[in-house]
Amino acid sequence: MVELPQSVADTEALLRGQNYLADRALATSVHLAMAMGRPLFLEGEPGTGKTEIAKVLAAGLDRRLVRLQCYDGLDLAAAAYEWDHARQLMAIRLAETDGAARQSLAAGLYGRDYLLTRPLLSAIDPALPPAVLLIDELDRADEPFEAFLLELLADFQITVPELGTIRAAIKPIVVITSNRTREVHDAIRRRCLYHWVGYPDAPRERAILAVRAPGVPAKLSAQVVNFVQQVRKMDIFKQPGVAETIDWASCLAALDAHELAPGAVEDTLGALLKYQDDIEKLQGEPIEKLTAEAISAA
Ligand SMILES: Nc1ncnc2c1ncn2[C@@H]1O[C@H](COP(=O)(O)OP(=O)(O)OP(=O)(O)O)[C@@H](O)[C@H]1O
Ligand SMILES: [Mg+2]
Repeated sequence: MVELPQSVADTEALLRGQNYLADRALATSVHLAMAMGRPLFLEGEPGTGKTEIAKVLAAGLDRRLVRLQCYDGLDLAAAAYEWDHARQLMAIRLAETDGAARQSLAAGLYGRDYLLTRPLLSAIDPALPPAVLLIDELDRADEPFEAFLLELLADFQITVPELGTIRAAIKPIVVITSNRTREVHDAIRRRCLYHWVGYPDAPRERAILAVRAPGVPAKLSAQVVNFVQQVRKMDIFKQPGVAETIDWASCLAALDAHELAPGAVEDTLGALLKYQDDIEKLQGEPIEKLTAEAISAA
């Protein structure tokens, strides 16, 4: 395991070492979350690197990445722990024939051996190496689940009624993300440091392309970024995220493009926009205009 970074600059460098380019504000939030042992709550536009932060922290700090993908109906059994009823029953059957085993079984039936560990418990399990815990897309889980998270986020512990309280020996680094399909409760927010992850400006997006899609010619990258930045100002249903910029630039490069051209843009628009209405809005004249502007500004 690598030591936690000592400064914002060190944190920025740690992220950069994993090809993640954070602006100063994001690097500061990440640094403070780690230094103060507080969960980091990231909201923002889709495809802007929220989930990726947890992955690169785990890789850069040489920690386990424990990921909990949230969904409607997520409950304690899937998120934290579950008693292994099948094994408990089996043990009971076996003990039925043996009096001594019956005695020891009664004590052991609700011991760690019979507990199935799910992501949240795994992240704070003192028997396991330190972790980065990613609670991804919390807005998709329902509110009762958030209530359960409170104990974990406040004290980095989980109480299993039959067993007792399990507490992290080394606090996990916790990253929570949300895409704001609903508002996450204030009680969760209060326990976290909050950061809004927006779209990068053009220079940063070019730099991200350079590290994430190094095979794309620089000139094409610059034009792609100009084009995407203009598209984000348009009134469309689903704006392209950084992930789409990377995809689109890689597609164009795979077609051996060295510069944007209206034909190639039109043919590859499905890498950038994911709704037919948005594609139709751009087809024809807007593509020509945006392409010309993207080329002249690069
Ligand atoms: N600042 C950045 N530096 C480097 N790569 C980035 C950055 N931001 C985004 N990316 C790239 O964009 C991809 C998508 O990021 P990620 O999946 O983390 O987005 P997200 O915000 O979690 O999106 P969603 O809301 O759709 O889940 C990453 O795999 C990474 O390649
Ligand atoms: Mg994500």
